[in-house]
Amino acid sequence: MTPSDRRSSAPIVRAEGVTKAFPGVVALDGVDFEVHAGEVHVLLGENGAGKSTLIRLLAGAHRPDRGRIVVDGRPVRVHGAQDAERLGIATIHQEFHLVPDLTVAENLFLGRPPRRFGLVDRARMEADAADLLARVGVDVSPRARLRELGVARRQMVEIAKALSVRARVLVMDEPTAVLTGGEVERLFAIVRRLRADGVGVVFITHKLEEVAELGDRVTVLRDGRSVARVPAGTDRDELVRLMVGRSIEAQYPRERGPVDADGPPLLRVRGLRRAGAFDGVGFEVRGGEVVGLAGLVGAGRTEVVRAVFGADAYDHGSVHVRGAPLPRHDVAASLAAGVGFVPEDRKGQGLVLGASVGENLGLVTLRRASRGGLVDRAGQRRAAAAMAARLGVRMAGLDQPARTLSGGNQQKVAIGKWLLAGSRLLILDEPTRGVDVGAKVEIYRLVNELTAAGHGVLMVSSDLPEVLGMSDRVLVMCRGRLAGELAGDAATQDAVMALAVGSARPADLAR
Ligand SMILES: Nc1ncnc2c1ncn2[C@@H]1O[C@H](COP(=O)(O)OP(=O)(O)OP(=O)(O)O)[C@@H](O)[C@H]1O
Ligand SMILES: [Mg+2]
Repeated sequence: MTPSDRRSSAPIVRAEGVTKAFPGVVALDGVDFEVHAGEVHVLLGENGAGKSTLIRLLAGAHRPDRGRIVVDGRPVRVHGAQDAERLGIATIHQEFHLVPDLTVAENLFLGRPPRRFGLVDRARMEADAADLLARVGVDVSPRARLRELGVARRQMVEIAKALSVRARVLVMDEPTAVLTGGEVERLFAIVRRLRADGVGVVFITHKLEEVAELGDRVTVLRDGRSVARVPAGTDRDELVRLMVGRSIEAQYPRERGPVDADGPPLLRVRGLRRAGAFDGVGFEVRGGEVVGLAGLVGAGRTEVVRAVFGADAYDHGSVHVRGAPLPRHDVAASLAAGVGFVPEDRKGQGLVLGASVGENLGLVTLRRASRGGLVDRAGQRRAAAAMAARLGVRMAGLDQPARTLSGGNQQKVAIGKWLLAGSRLLILDEPTRGVDVGAKVEIYRLVNELTAAGHGVLMVSSDLPEVLGMSDRVLVMCRGRLAGELAGDAATQDAVMALAVGSARPADLAR
């Protein structure tokens, strides 16, 4: 029994037998869920299980087809964010709801800015914003435009915004998906403080180690049904079994094959520099290899891979693919050279949200093939369907708009289109962010297939077990530079962290 099971208090919020259907899919089917004061209630489930839909009902973004929401024992109607706020329910949504062109302060006080003599009091707004940002311990200027921030900082702003509302229930949909070490710790400290103050917290995550660390109780959703309610101390394998209905043996099934040592490397990067972002970055990726790029948020990993792919420019240095120079800042040239890139921001750059799943999956193949003339549309659709099945994309069909897929399923499609296109060199930036345990393993197996076929993979990941478990070599960046390379037994979490924070001495690495 956990402390919260013994709690005698009534739940603050309950969902009773809620059902919600969308065209072609029953997202929730008679689900009961509740959160008590002073507990962290974790919601687990595979991609598409219905987690976000359930919390959208609590937040008033959707209304249930059947069932009801009860607050303090009384049935309520939650029609929109204002209703939710009045009822004391604050939500941090999985997908960003902030406005890119506004400043951080404007976003924090959107629709309710502090006023003085009827006018928006900018000075006070910026001061209050600075207080909120300090509370979550994130170092950004209240005047920065949101679009200038990376995803981790945007997430911290989103969290600061939710905290600015005095909530009795705080609902967090995968808040840690885009955060790393220090930020996660700060967030957990905030959540523990809120719990101690009697706030009820609903916490969604795919990072199972977080369950025991932060949670009190767990509700597991599968295919829109609530299949279990267990204490947060339940062991990992059992949680996996409850979520996916089977156990998963190898978490990181990396199979190393022969590395292509002849001729020029698949990718050669030399002396890459962009003022203020990275400097002196050089490395190679050979056919058959997975090279990991580790480091803290802000170390410059995303900037480097975007420059290598041609999504952004660089000032100095060179990029060669199979011995041929790749022109600077030229995505079309990268595509033609067989380079693929899955960006960290799937909504912004990874997908065409208005297009269907099938269209998104076929996008790269189509662009590459159309240079050669005829396109076999029926064949393409078959291939797209096979890839979607392989990755377990939960969807009503290939014609479903990508916008309405669950977050993790969007990520599978963002990766699937490059796998389908048979990219010779695939650059992955945080590939399994928001992806459930079962689908992660499937993505890793596809990575194995790519390298077995002689292709190469460059993978940025903040998930240390993943980057260590799936890379043949790990490059570590620190403050815009490569701090070192680790392979084999030397590649440990401690060694990566020492390089990432800039505290490693040669003696540490020689061990
Ligand atoms: N607006 C919508 N229109 C159509 N289908 C939708 C819509 N919103 C959600 N769905 C579908 O409902 C199902 C549940 O989605 P939901 O976003 O709740 O999953 P989830 O458990 O949050 O998954 P993830 O872990 O990937 O975030 C999915 O099949 C999804 O495609
Ligand atoms: Mg979700």
